[in-house]
Amino acid sequence: MPDATPKPWGETTIVGKPIPRVDGDERLSGKATYSLDLYLPDMLYGATVRCPYPHANVKKVDLSEALRMPGVRAALSDADKEANIPWYGAPGGRSASRLFDTHCRFAGEEVAVIVAETQQQAWDAVRQVRVEYEQLKFTTDFEAALKSDAPPLHDGGNLAANPVNVTRGDVAKGFAEADLVLEETYRTPTQIHTPLETFGSVAKWDGDELTVWDTTQGVFPVQNSLANLLKMPLSKVRVIGHYMGGGFGAKLSLSKYTVMAALLARKTSRPVKLFLTREESFLCVGNRPAHAMTLKAGVKKDGTLTALEFTGVGEVGGYPGGSNAGYQVQDLWKCPNIHVVERSAMTPMGPARAFRAPGFPQGNWALEQMMDALAEKLGMDPIDLRLKNYSPMCQVEQKPYTSAGIPQLLTEGAKAFGWAEARARAKGKGPLLRGVGVASGMWGSPGRPPSTAIVRYYLDGSVNLNMGAADLGTGTKTVMAQVVSEELGVPLERIGIEWADTGTTQYTSASGGSKTVASDSPAVRAAALDVKRQLLALAAEQLKVPAESLTLKDTEISGPGGSPKVTTRELRTLQTQQVLVGVGIRGPNPTDKSVRPFSTHFAEVEVNTRTGEVRVVRMLAMHDSGRVMNAATFANQCLGGMTQGIGYATTERRVVDSNTGTMVNSNWYDYKIPTSKDIPPDLDVMPIDLHDHECDTTSTKGLGEPATIPVATAVANAFYNATGVRIKEGPITPAKVLMALAQRKG
Ligand code: MOS
Repeated sequence: MPDATPKPWGETTIVGKPIPRVDGDERLSGKATYSLDLYLPDMLYGATVRCPYPHANVKKVDLSEALRMPGVRAALSDADKEANIPWYGAPGGRSASRLFDTHCRFAGEEVAVIVAETQQQAWDAVRQVRVEYEQLKFTTDFEAALKSDAPPLHDGGNLAANPVNVTRGDVAKGFAEADLVLEETYRTPTQIHTPLETFGSVAKWDGDELTVWDTTQGVFPVQNSLANLLKMPLSKVRVIGHYMGGGFGAKLSLSKYTVMAALLARKTSRPVKLFLTREESFLCVGNRPAHAMTLKAGVKKDGTLTALEFTGVGEVGGYPGGSNAGYQVQDLWKCPNIHVVERSAMTPMGPARAFRAPGFPQGNWALEQMMDALAEKLGMDPIDLRLKNYSPMCQVEQKPYTSAGIPQLLTEGAKAFGWAEARARAKGKGPLLRGVGVASGMWGSPGRPPSTAIVRYYLDGSVNLNMGAADLGTGTKTVMAQVVSEELGVPLERIGIEWADTGTTQYTSASGGSKTVASDSPAVRAAALDVKRQLLALAAEQLKVPAESLTLKDTEISGPGGSPKVTTRELRTLQTQQVLVGVGIRGPNPTDKSVRPFSTHFAEVEVNTRTGEVRVVRMLAMHDSGRVMNAATFANQCLGGMTQGIGYATTERRVVDSNTGTMVNSNWYDYKIPTSKDIPPDLDVMPIDLHDHECDTTSTKGLGEPATIPVATAVANAFYNATGVRIKEGPITPAKVLMALAQRKG
């Protein structure tokens, strides 16, 4: 068996370097074939009929005219038996629905789908579908949706059946011990996933075998769900997810379009491509749900937290979902007395989906603005207040962390950012005010099994890495190739990579949860070590020396002192076999300790008091994410996280017309994500590496989500520092800024 617990790396030679993406050329030049780029011979194109109303019963779907349109080959609706597939909610439960359910709970819900010879013909036919709707009552206000008189979307009301209720210690006692108690209500907007590649699949049948090209973060979860729903063995469902252009959590699991493409491909015996338009992707494939959060905090004069009470409501859209906004309240700062209550409200809007640290930027917006407010009231520096409440122990799991770099993030970050000087600087007079803010964050789960990887070593000294992980654009392939190169000494140019294909690569869970590197790199490392062990064993046998006396670098096997002994090409057994196969399996996490990544962001903003504009001037991202595997991909994750967080802080929000119950900015013109002109050139990143040799065998903890968690809060705190007014409801738009500044003046 391969060694699951090799010695930790000390200094590394390839791992850690800012190696450019191994697939950078094909990605940048457009040569890479993303699922969206795939054109198969004989392929048909799909387009979806969607309910235009937020809450409606479908009385009748008339496809007859659409089916007579030029080029149209087939259609599916709830009337078709094969489309009787359960979706959303637990089957049989109060929220159970079908692929084309006739009870529509958001504008954009799927009513029917059509395939035609061209994409244009499919859309033309969609316009000829006649649907009779019975409109139903609704409210788009997610807090009002939980009141008893709100029109219910589901039997039994709008409360998604998963309230969180966590108590630790005694908050009443904690508040009684406090010298200062503050209570505030914070709100966050709905943020939409905007990956560059939209959402969709290509499906093709060969006899009873289905192949799907999907833009997905996890080929294996998609394979699993598809096989389940279509009642097929896993061995006959192949999901390929090679190049993909971002997902942010909305592509972690099977989506309706994939099932629709598979059903239509079977019905027509033709390959089918079904990709959503950008507008559709705004409506129906997920979002970061809005939250309303009331946080009450008790603190002693010296800054010691005595109690935290968090009551949150999250909006999950038309179907059940959950929230984890209160996690950081339970775990980020040491506090003996906690009460966290979270409820999720269903509204007739697109269902929420995991979005880069689900729940965490929301909860952070409340917790870390509260820490800022407490510090001010106590007359403490916000850094000192945080240092005072640092916890070396995971309070949720009641175990020490393998590493927790919060003190280093705060103190070294403050130094690098020039925090004290910036705080002391005059805020400015006239229309431009300046301020600085800080916020910390943590992510709630670590890398973990399962993950299996295979490394093959060929007689010519080239190597093949075979892994199931997706590369969302984050550089997973590059980092994993570096791991192989580190162990075997083979240059990256000679490493071929097979990835994200259930038919040919090894099992792993979806790439998400900031856990791809921490879950998969130990498996890849173990596979490479298995190859090395076998090569050295062959050499030892051939040379009649102990294997322990030999070392491998690329094709050279050397003895003590580096004296060349034999090349791998000269190994007689390898000459016969042609190839050696090494298998690596991700070992378990430590049971007596908790693994968590941490981050702290520093921001400086400029507020234009005439226009209300907030401009982020500079930002520093401090990360304790374990070992940095590649300085360039590390920086890329941080820059992306900051960009997404700055959007969340200042411009991004779903705008809903409460009369029609529809999103009015479902396009990239009206839904403002930051462009390069909105992002300051001065974005800095700094890793803190605590050489954590307990978290896993590559010392990695996770970065993708921590990179965005505290960003918006740091901006909000900087805004407060600049203006002396706090905008508790994000995003901080010019209209809100001008209103708040006017109120401040009285
Ligand atoms: Mo993430 S929200 O697990 O891609």
